[in-house]
Amino acid sequence: MNITKQARSVFACAECGYESPKWLGRCPDCTSWNSFSERPRASGGQRVNGAPAAAVELSCVDGDSEPRVALGLPEFDRVLGGGVVAGSLVLVGGDPGIGKSTLLLQAAALAASAGRSAVYVSGEESARQVKMRAARLGLSGDRLFVLTETDLQAALAEVERISPGLVVVDSIQTVHSPAAEQAPGSIAQLRQCTMELMRWAKSGGVPVFIVGHVTKDGDIAGPRLLEHIVDVVLYLEGERFSHYRLLRGVKNRFGSVDEIGVFEMTGEGLRGVENPSQAFIAERAADAVGSAVVPALEGSRPLMVEVQALTSPSVTPAPRRTANGLDFSRLLLVSAVLSRRLGLSLAGQDIIASVVGGLRVHEPAADLALALAIVSSSRDKPVAADIVALGEVGLSGELRSVSQLERRLGEAARLGFRRCLLAEASLRGGAPATALELMPAPTLREAIRLGLE
Ligand code: TYD
Ligand code: MG
Repeated sequence: MNITKQARSVFACAECGYESPKWLGRCPDCTSWNSFSERPRASGGQRVNGAPAAAVELSCVDGDSEPRVALGLPEFDRVLGGGVVAGSLVLVGGDPGIGKSTLLLQAAALAASAGRSAVYVSGEESARQVKMRAARLGLSGDRLFVLTETDLQAALAEVERISPGLVVVDSIQTVHSPAAEQAPGSIAQLRQCTMELMRWAKSGGVPVFIVGHVTKDGDIAGPRLLEHIVDVVLYLEGERFSHYRLLRGVKNRFGSVDEIGVFEMTGEGLRGVENPSQAFIAERAADAVGSAVVPALEGSRPLMVEVQALTSPSVTPAPRRTANGLDFSRLLLVSAVLSRRLGLSLAGQDIIASVVGGLRVHEPAADLALALAIVSSSRDKPVAADIVALGEVGLSGELRSVSQLERRLGEAARLGFRRCLLAEASLRGGAPATALELMPAPTLREAIRLGLE
């Protein structure tokens, strides 16, 4: 591009910072009206040291893996890929009240007690509140500094004085930077603060964690937009009234996003669950009606999940279907197939289906377990306690194969299950090496017969 011809000024949206060479009535990015005003084009972009970069031959680049620091919370470290990379910016998102502050305060305190100090920048809670929480969590707070400053540049100046080994900013929605004119919490502010933190983390080689709230309707006031900027995006999920929490990787520039961390919220904060499969099926009764177990996959981690269903005569003209932790559309599909292909009379029945422990299972591999649970409830007959079920249900009632069969079977065998109902199609590539007795079925009808008769 010919630089001399570039316009000297640009028009920028006051809401989100979107830039355009000409004035626009409506912002194409955030759709606000009349938000554009002219301002001089910033020169030099974001270059920090002023020197233009030289191209480097890839074979000459130092290829050692990034140095990582373990946080001391194994489930957290696992999701990060074995610890946090120096100078990385990690976004931890999640619903309000899910435990983000708890998790990061624990991580900061553990990192501080293991060596270099940590700073917890709190824009939401006072130092006293943080102290009370730390006391409840049994954290000593040595070398852990709390900073209640919402002006980001002032906060970073203070952080530099302390020179910590780790920084937490809780939350990104509460800090603001004088470099952007928009109001705190606006999209432009979120973007500006995140970019400043990114630059700061990279230049000092210090890992920075930022907390981002997600609103209930899923579309987040911020974090989605920040996902492009940061190095790592993790989401902490779980049902509010269940004590299990899953920490899930969504993006990781330094590792795989296939890992999940499983925690339990206790009176003393979040505790890693070492054997999650065991935990999720621990309360299952041996002859429970309306219950089936599926070896589900969370990323690359197999997890045994109990699916429950309850059918009961409907008192309303339109029977209801409720799915907790399962895809509603999968429930509709499975119940439609059960009525049409197996002749199960579900027309006058309400169906409530749920996954135990506040987990969410969205993979179609859980279809067969869901179907078994529904039929088991409707016939008042339990599925044998040593059976797991694995298969996707197709519209014509056929069973389809699922991915990573051996891994799932391995986990089921480890937990003492002895038989697995699965799609015949799964065995086409050869039988998997497993200690389980396999019960292949071509159709849902056949699988139900094997599982319940
Ligand atoms: P919090 O970390 O404040 O959530 P977030 O920062 O994501 O908004 O966690 C809030 C919930 O966690 C609150 O409802 C109380 C519960 N909690 C415990 O059950 N045990 C504990 O030890 C702590 C600190 C919190
Ligand atoms: Mg919080």
